[in-house]
Amino acid sequence: MTARIVGTGSSVPVHKVTNEDLSRVVETNDEWISSRTGIKERRIAGEESTVSMSVSAAKKALEDAGTDPQDLDLIIVATCSPDYFFPNTACCVQEAVGAVNAVAFDLSAACSGFLFGLNTIQAYMKAGIYKKALLIGAETMSKLIDWEDRGTCVLFGDGAGAAVIQAEETGMIDMVQYSDGQQGPVLTCKARETSNFLFPNEQKADHIYMEGQPVFKFAVKKVPECIKALLDKTGTSKEEIKYYVLHQANSRIIDSVAKRMKEPEEKFPMNLHFYGNTSAASIPILLDEMNRKGMLEKGDKIILSGFGAGLTWGASLLEW
Ligand code: COA
Repeated sequence: MTARIVGTGSSVPVHKVTNEDLSRVVETNDEWISSRTGIKERRIAGEESTVSMSVSAAKKALEDAGTDPQDLDLIIVATCSPDYFFPNTACCVQEAVGAVNAVAFDLSAACSGFLFGLNTIQAYMKAGIYKKALLIGAETMSKLIDWEDRGTCVLFGDGAGAAVIQAEETGMIDMVQYSDGQQGPVLTCKARETSNFLFPNEQKADHIYMEGQPVFKFAVKKVPECIKALLDKTGTSKEEIKYYVLHQANSRIIDSVAKRMKEPEEKFPMNLHFYGNTSAASIPILLDEMNRKGMLEKGDKIILSGFGAGLTWGASLLEW
């Protein structure tokens, strides 16, 4: 058996922040942000949280799939911006949707989180362990951002996307995934420092730190490489692929991947102009948009590819 996506949903905060709005917060402008990233606006949480957006996206995905939450046997939430250290976000979703029969845990792989979650579910389903899963990518990146750092604060946004996945005869064909901890320091966000009665430490909230150029170079090199590895591994030709659904970090990264792969830009759908980089949420939000617009037909072959902090990256080949 293999993992098939049978329903999708997404949820983003109501509050929209344009590049123009940001130019009143830090020294930046629409021209700089648009030309370097393609981002025009992003959603920023106010009332919303990682849990509330996860629950909202999950409910829509369950409805789209026509799935009774009690039939779920697994919930995975990919996030690097949870509301709690514990309980995990997935247990909060389990409670909210009434998925009483599911085991629930979070997965941390930053912007590759949804993809790694999908691959984890695939492994469970292939082994016959679980049959019906809910996978969510959810982030409140706005709480990790240094709002005085113009190099990073213009890039990210908040949101959640979800997919209901079930074990079927056809669905995921294969996947590749990689990590390189040696390059970890180029994109970090520290959690709490060690601090206790023996070794007290002044707690300072830490924020996202990024060296933009190494991250850019990593993405434009590794994404085409891993997609090629997946195509070779599965004996699939580029012509068979309808869409490449890439992590929505930056339109220049996506354009460059298309160019390196000698594939038309039309095969690389984008919505980052409206949401910025929503980390683990970006792939499922885009997938939900494509699903609801009717861009995907049964039997279409698509490749999902994620990349981000860790460093982590990978790709999955699916039949819709
Ligand atoms: N507005 C205006 N100017 C800005 C700015 C902003 N928001 N952010 C940075 N700058 C300035 C810098 O201070 C620098 O000025 P200086 O030359 O006077 O020092 C100049 O713009 C160029 O900065 P640089 O960092 O070299 O720009 P860049 O061309 O590399 O673009 C990124 C920066 C972040 C857009 C680019 O490196 C990138 O997209 N990297 C990948 C990021 C990413 O996708 N991360 C997530 C992966 S999951």
